[in-house]
Amino acid sequence: MTEKKLRELLNDMTLEEKVNQLVQIPGSYYDKNASVTGGIENSRFSETQLNQAGSILGITGAKTLRQIQETYMENHPHHIPLLFMLDVIHGLRTIFPMPLALGATFDPNLVELTAQAAAKESAVSGIHVTFAPMADLVRDARWGRVMESTGEDPYLNSLMTAAMVSGFQGNHPGEQERIAACVKHFAAYGKPEGGREYSNVELSEHALREFYLPAYESGIRAGSELVMASFNTLNGIPSSGNHWLMQEVLRKEMGFGGVLISDWASIEEMIHHGFCQNEREAAKKAIEAGVDIDMATNIYANHLAELVESGEITEACIDEAAYRVLRLKNRLDLFENPFKDGDEDKEKEIILSDEHRALARKTARESIVLLKNEKEVQTGKELLPIHSGETVAFIGPYVESKGLHSTWAIKGRAEDAVSIREAAKEAMAKENVMFACGCGMMNRDNGIILKRHMDETLTESDLGIFDEQTEKQLEKEALEAAAKANLVVLCLGEHRLLSGEAASRSDIGIPMVQMELFRKVSEVNPRIVTVVFSGRPLDLREISEKSMAVLEVWLPGTEGGNAILDVLTGACNPSGKLPVSFPYSVGQIPVHYNEYATGRPLKGKEDTAFYRSRYLDIPNHPLYPFGYGLSYTDFVISPVELSRKTIGGVQKSLKASVMVRNAGSRKGTETVQLYIRDIAASVVRPVKELKGFCKITLDQGEEQKVEFEITEEMLQFHAADGKLTSEAGGYLLWIDNSSDTGAGIEFELEREEHV
Ligand code: GLC
Repeated sequence: MTEKKLRELLNDMTLEEKVNQLVQIPGSYYDKNASVTGGIENSRFSETQLNQAGSILGITGAKTLRQIQETYMENHPHHIPLLFMLDVIHGLRTIFPMPLALGATFDPNLVELTAQAAAKESAVSGIHVTFAPMADLVRDARWGRVMESTGEDPYLNSLMTAAMVSGFQGNHPGEQERIAACVKHFAAYGKPEGGREYSNVELSEHALREFYLPAYESGIRAGSELVMASFNTLNGIPSSGNHWLMQEVLRKEMGFGGVLISDWASIEEMIHHGFCQNEREAAKKAIEAGVDIDMATNIYANHLAELVESGEITEACIDEAAYRVLRLKNRLDLFENPFKDGDEDKEKEIILSDEHRALARKTARESIVLLKNEKEVQTGKELLPIHSGETVAFIGPYVESKGLHSTWAIKGRAEDAVSIREAAKEAMAKENVMFACGCGMMNRDNGIILKRHMDETLTESDLGIFDEQTEKQLEKEALEAAAKANLVVLCLGEHRLLSGEAASRSDIGIPMVQMELFRKVSEVNPRIVTVVFSGRPLDLREISEKSMAVLEVWLPGTEGGNAILDVLTGACNPSGKLPVSFPYSVGQIPVHYNEYATGRPLKGKEDTAFYRSRYLDIPNHPLYPFGYGLSYTDFVISPVELSRKTIGGVQKSLKASVMVRNAGSRKGTETVQLYIRDIAASVVRPVKELKGFCKITLDQGEEQKVEFEITEEMLQFHAADGKLTSEAGGYLLWIDNSSDTGAGIEFELEREEHV
């Protein structure tokens, strides 16, 4: 439909119709026969509101959505099509590794392909919009949704956010088998006080602009059709009513012209925050802030028309919001094709296709981070990959588990996943493998909390909780297997329900029931590889100390078991790098590589001086740093060479390069990382910042030059007045394989000669 026609349509709509386009109904109001049943009697919505709402969230399926669309358009006075939205965060049915694991691939191109595959499965299922990517920067492992971010770095998050937007939308969301993206949660949701979900965010504008806004902006520059407001207050003002954040920063500064949707009931929650007296005020503040759609409540539906009639808001304000919603529908071609790509036959063909499974397996392999791989004294060989002929005991609650997807994989099904046991039976000779569950997944008290908080219907086997007698039997079998085997692969970690939305934890350890098993097994057989499943960085001190090898596999998704066996057997050489620091202990949080020096920085890790910015009882540095990850081969990175020592005048840039050599015994992939520090500036600058990276694959003995162009633009930051600038002076530069670097090399940005 042309813009002119769209405007004519808008002008022909009543005020009530326009308001109803700003209402989003939960899919629970529609039963599987696609009729609106969801307890209308106790519904918050009137019959008209239900039948005229502009969009629905939370249901999928080509047949169901077609039925809903047909009925809806028939009843609608202008036969305007519905938008169908869903949280497709890391896959619809083929579940890819959770987003934090996607960050660990340091491979935006690969991540884009996973988003494209997710878009295909969603589009043929009738979905038009996904509530992803999440662009929230996170430095606090206690917060459950760290799993949904791509980590602690603005540069990496910016690349990953843009890659996902492009994967979902292609060049245009109206294209075949593409869906509209929604960058979320604007803004700074990832910095809740105390790591507690939905908590307040206090943040200087400087830090907001330097660290937290870049990834959202990157997603918007990549063309995201929607942005979602966050639950949190930012410096005392809830995002859903934050006029400065939404109108000044999002719409004016970032030039976002798309649809701004609230989070689930986040408009209503402004009352609970103490920012609005009542629903009417909440509706007014939200629409004035520019929030176009009220997700899951009837606050807009009940109050906007009356606010216009009373003159407290203008009808133009409603028109603007309604137009953006209609424009999105038009950009998806829904007026011409209200069912877009929804197709039952294609659903069967595309969902969980071999191609998508292969992509999920490849991505999971690339997301796995090898944290430790000790050499054995007697052989001089590293424990991994598993040496042929070894008998291996796979022990732990994650041996059998098919719950390898996050709680945001809401349409993912455990039965579709490949467990470690299934993969091992496929990949290894029968006579060489043993399996033992060993213990439950979580302590009884964790389980009780989850049952109480999350879902009363969760059974003890859902939660991996066993009675005492069973625990004893499981342990006995595990210890017998450990004693018999040459090698033990312990498959441990955090239950998938212990991360994700509302799953903040004050303790980031592996559940005690599993640690007790770990200790007993390590007394029986010291040749231990520990495979750690988690939705967040965990406190791995004891695991690291007593295991000879450690793999962080996150929540690896549908093909997780196969990917893990690919790495364990050496079919794949691990190359993942940490997108987030692993704290030494929870007391260290927030810990992140791009910290400020302070006036009394430690002079190296061994500095014992008392009067330093430090703890008395633990080190300052994390257990494992951002950007860290080992390989089965050894890469040697030469000292950095600079093409020149200064940038300035006619010399707008310089080149920094290293030679990278594969000095090991097998082909491998290294992520070479560029870090820069501004030594002194008008505001203090981080001790280092990631400014580039490059993944290279080298054969044994092969050497390759890796070069980065250093530009003035790379050195820009927000000065105290909020303006983006760069300042002349000295800089340090590193090119290394993690953020834990040695001495840097200095270069200069010369002062611009003002003529
Ligand atoms: C949730 C989440 C948001 C999600 C929305 C719809 O509460 O905060 O990320 O997209 O509701 O499910």
